[in-house]
Amino acid sequence: MTEAFNKNAGWEATPNNLEPFWLPFTPNRNFKKNPRMISRAEGMFYYTTSGDAIIDGTAGLWCCNAGHGRTKIVEAIRQQAGELDYAPAFQFGHPKVFELASRLTMMAPGDLDYCFFSNSGSEAVDSALKIAIAYHNISGNGSRTRLIGRERGYHGVGFGGISVGGIVNNRKFFGSLLAGTDHLPHTYNRAETAFTKGEPEWGADLADKLSDIVTLHDPSTIAAVIVEPMAGSTGVLPPPKGYLKRLREICDQHGILLIFDEVITAFGRLGFATAAERYGVVPDMMTFAKGVTSGTVPMGGVLVRDHVYQTFMNGPEHAIELFHGYTYSGHPLAAAAGIASMDVYQEEGLFERALSLEDQWADAAMSLKGKPHVVDIRTIGLVAGIDLESRKDAVGARGFELMERAYNEEGLMVRVTGDTIALSPPLIIEERQIAEIFEKLGKLLSNLD
Ligand SMILES: Cc1ncc(COP(=O)(O)O)c(C=O)c1O
Repeated sequence: MTEAFNKNAGWEATPNNLEPFWLPFTPNRNFKKNPRMISRAEGMFYYTTSGDAIIDGTAGLWCCNAGHGRTKIVEAIRQQAGELDYAPAFQFGHPKVFELASRLTMMAPGDLDYCFFSNSGSEAVDSALKIAIAYHNISGNGSRTRLIGRERGYHGVGFGGISVGGIVNNRKFFGSLLAGTDHLPHTYNRAETAFTKGEPEWGADLADKLSDIVTLHDPSTIAAVIVEPMAGSTGVLPPPKGYLKRLREICDQHGILLIFDEVITAFGRLGFATAAERYGVVPDMMTFAKGVTSGTVPMGGVLVRDHVYQTFMNGPEHAIELFHGYTYSGHPLAAAAGIASMDVYQEEGLFERALSLEDQWADAAMSLKGKPHVVDIRTIGLVAGIDLESRKDAVGARGFELMERAYNEEGLMVRVTGDTIALSPPLIIEERQIAEIFEKLGKLLSNLD
């Protein structure tokens, strides 16, 4: 037996060994020297292994919209684990997944009446892109394979998602990506829109760039356009007023499917069930994840309009219509967590709550204007993006230090991408907690080099 094999004999592990776990999207060596370890959560708070409370300014990773440790959701998961741990996702079903699909399609606008489940946002995106290409293929338009994303877009980390995505570091290490993609320009212009609350007046015309892309490639080669209605992970870019409607019009004109990636924006983040509802634009497909289970059990999916689904419902009835799916599509634990999350959102009116807090949230965020290093602030729903000026020759260093110090010194969890702070608290946040978050940030900024 080789030494490499032997080291696992007896299933012995070294307790508290931080080395074997390769953390995602994290500087591993730095983390392992100064770990930020969370062992418990309740309501608006995380608790560290030493018992310190950390106010959650980010709903985990934009996902725990109902807050933490919600009894109804916890109990639903517990009960489901005892009743049905797993049912095969292919050729068999279980009641809860049908119930959740009904709840989600009822929540979605227009005729987004069908739901395909995945386990993450990345898988949801790749599912939507594949459905788009297959849809055209079986409609007799097999040349429509091109996928259009947007600069600065984030659509997860699958090869499809990074190919239509527009975040350079997520793409540049991974080879030639998917062939046949193109990108709309991003919608950010600091000179025109700095310190705007809500959707900027400037920028709707950027949607017309889609017409140029269509002219360049010809509509007969384009399957779909995918955008985040509000670009989140790139640093919070609310859509310019009228931009999404214009994209819809151009897609309709050319028979191109429009996909909204609502992995962040669905489930109340912008004060509505979906961003599509906020903006009055119904996409042909909508991806979701995160908030569907309030972050408790991994789940994602794609909501699909009637005409897309019906296109697949052809051929002999015993034949599979879509050769795609995951072992854990609609997992019973996730489905139970999803239904309970929808109950909590509905019973507590959390989407409406987010909307009612939007103005106060925006005012509190804008109070940081004029603090050292702050060069722009953007807000929408219960989201804020705060750009800090980068240190010379050290892009991201100031943001990273702020994130570390917020956690260690102020008991505050923030998310940073480069030198942009992104805030997206659970929708149960109270008014005094909004004030607390921005006071803590103000203090940190005043003491940051
Ligand atoms: C818009 C969007 N799409 C897709 C994803 C990927 O989701 P996941 O990390 O669950 O794969 C994210 C994650 O933040 C996202 O914000």
